[in-house]
Amino acid sequence: MSINQKETQNILIIGDIHEPFSLEGYRDHCVEMYNKFNCNKVVFIGDIIDNHYSSYHETDTEAMGGGAELQVAIDKVALWYELFPDADVCIGNHDALISRKAQSGGIPEQWIKSYSEVLGTPGWRFETDFIYDNVRYTHGHKSSKARTASKRDMMSTVTGHYHTDFYCEYNFGIAHKIFALAVGSGVDDNCYAVKYAAGGKKSAVGCAVVLDDGTLPILCPMDLEKYRHMKKPQTIQKIKEEELPTEDTQEGRGRKSRSILDESTGEIYIKQKDVQDLLGVSKGYLSSMLNGRLNNKTTFKYIN
Ligand SMILES: [Fe+2]
Repeated sequence: MSINQKETQNILIIGDIHEPFSLEGYRDHCVEMYNKFNCNKVVFIGDIIDNHYSSYHETDTEAMGGGAELQVAIDKVALWYELFPDADVCIGNHDALISRKAQSGGIPEQWIKSYSEVLGTPGWRFETDFIYDNVRYTHGHKSSKARTASKRDMMSTVTGHYHTDFYCEYNFGIAHKIFALAVGSGVDDNCYAVKYAAGGKKSAVGCAVVLDDGTLPILCPMDLEKYRHMKKPQTIQKIKEEELPTEDTQEGRGRKSRSILDESTGEIYIKQKDVQDLLGVSKGYLSSMLNGRLNNKTTFKYIN
């Protein structure tokens, strides 16, 4: 590349992740596509957090409280931030829930912290729209679907929002063409936050890239079979305190051990911290995987 030659812009677009409810393996899939297509820019298409606790719709009775969900979301967003410290984030309807609640409560914007401040992402820019190489990137809840918006605005358009939409369509004029790209999502359809959609069409799990300075859109569906093993750990089962083996059948692993072996059945009971160590995950990450509240006394059964 000569000094004056501009580097070709290749953009990775990450679908709705609704943290802390993203699908296991989705992050790895996005990294894989970023590398495969030699990307040098990242756009999150929006709804990076779910804010289930603050929904205008009914919340799940088993859901985490606001503080807990936000903390888990921050923990999981940190994993994305570590991978992509410089990125654009389209503000989605779920991201905006807190601002809307503030509006409903008559609270001026000055009182509200910025997204980056709350989420710990100083290198991310949050806007409703981004335009690069004459392609518009926007979440989609206000713009209409990509295929409608692209024709109406006569501009190539990339959207998320509709989790089941995953398409790339072109419209050709005599000397000009535009595309509409719906990038799918990376949310876990089995989590309580999207229970309302249970039994309906499954989310299209994938991301997309727009290569060669806005001229080449490509859909990147996730290989669900490849990442299937990364789903919630089947070997760990949360149990109630009364299910613990009685003291006369217990054998501790040492004074400081939190684990218990039930000699009569050979089953091992372990505390939350041991599960974290075993799986190499944080408390927040673990509670999001198991969709529930955890405390230091929470006990799990480890099934070999
Ligand atoms: Fe969404």
